[in-house]
Amino acid sequence: MSPSLRQRGLRVLHLEDSEFDHELTLAHLRQGDGREVHTLRVESESGFRAALEEDWDAIVSDYNLPGFSGLAALEILKASGRLLPFVIVSGEIGEETAVQAMRNGASDYLLKSNLARLSPALDHAIEANETRRARLAADRELAASRQQLSELAQHLQTSVERERAAIAREIHDDVGGALTALNFELNWIARHVQAPALQQKVQSALELAAHAMEASQRVMHNLRPAILEQGLVAALQWMAQRFEKRTGTECRFRSSHEHLELPRAVALVAYRTVQEALTNVSKHAQAAKVAIDLSLSRGVLSIEVTDNGCGLAPDALVKARSFGIRGLHERADTVRGWVELSSSASGTTLILSVPVGSRGNEGLESDTGFDLEGHDPSAWESP
Ligand SMILES: Nc1ncnc2c1ncn2[C@@H]1O[C@H](COP(=O)(O)OP(=O)(O)OP(=O)(O)O)[C@@H](O)[C@H]1O
Ligand SMILES: [Mg+2]
Repeated sequence: MSPSLRQRGLRVLHLEDSEFDHELTLAHLRQGDGREVHTLRVESESGFRAALEEDWDAIVSDYNLPGFSGLAALEILKASGRLLPFVIVSGEIGEETAVQAMRNGASDYLLKSNLARLSPALDHAIEANETRRARLAADRELAASRQQLSELAQHLQTSVERERAAIAREIHDDVGGALTALNFELNWIARHVQAPALQQKVQSALELAAHAMEASQRVMHNLRPAILEQGLVAALQWMAQRFEKRTGTECRFRSSHEHLELPRAVALVAYRTVQEALTNVSKHAQAAKVAIDLSLSRGVLSIEVTDNGCGLAPDALVKARSFGIRGLHERADTVRGWVELSSSASGTTLILSVPVGSRGNEGLESDTGFDLEGHDPSAWESP
């Protein structure tokens, strides 16, 4: 028995129709180790329900009562959501009934002819109940903290997209504006200078300006894929071609549709997912081929990226410093989608699924907070 229980005494709710049996039970409980025991005897359903409102350490219940029963009381206790040890004490209880009572959540059962066992049985039930309570509280805390972590990760993803859009806008307005003006000025000079040495300098300055313009467009594109304006299908097609050109790994893109009208937030999540999947292929897979398959069927958008590389190592998904795939799960969550990974010695497949259309991703532009409407800085010039 816990020290606090010893100090304040045991509070037992007793469901029992016989006053004599109640006194006998009480005597056994007190006898246990001379402890103080506070009890209340109830014998009807209404009495039991009312008493449940009070604070108890345990419930001891007869099995058969006139118009009520121990099992019915157990159901009421369960429905109340309170976690209390419930010990059945009965004049006669068959094995089957006892098993049923235990299945229904009783902590223990014993015969009235064996009341000497009551005190230790009750102590044991109280202790087990405390452990269960502590475990449930810890589970609840863990779930809450997981939820918080997931919300934080989603918030970060959204913030990153917003920040990227803001940086792209600044590059467009400041750097892009200045480079366009510089280009204009240099062209003017080129038309007005005659000296070959100066002409040469101006041409080389024009080349540098063109290079800087290209570089800022590339940076803007990475920050904010303008190609998405042409739809996800075109964007993925373009990404596959660029991947193949850049890495030399064959990359095939197939789509069930030529054009798809998707909420912009969904398109952005899909785009970033394929981007990360392809980056992973180039970083880890040592693949010769990769295939991207997009399909929309029964209201679910599905994108599969499959490579024929080495497959995931056993510890791949628990690496402390790897955030790509973790981030994909969080990203998918922001549009109510999910990511699945499967792998074998012959390669890895990553699948993103997102319900779209009537199943509830229409209002997402506003939901995710991505500022995808209006002025798009990365649309400054086509990539
Ligand atoms: N296509 C793939 N083929 C083989 N292994 C892969 C593939 N994709 C991922 N992996 C393995 O899974 C691990 C986790 O990938 P994840 O994208 O989460 O992290 P990362 O790429 O290592 O780092 P980052 O946080 O930069 O993305 C990788 O380190 C790699 O070992
Ligand atoms: Mg990665």
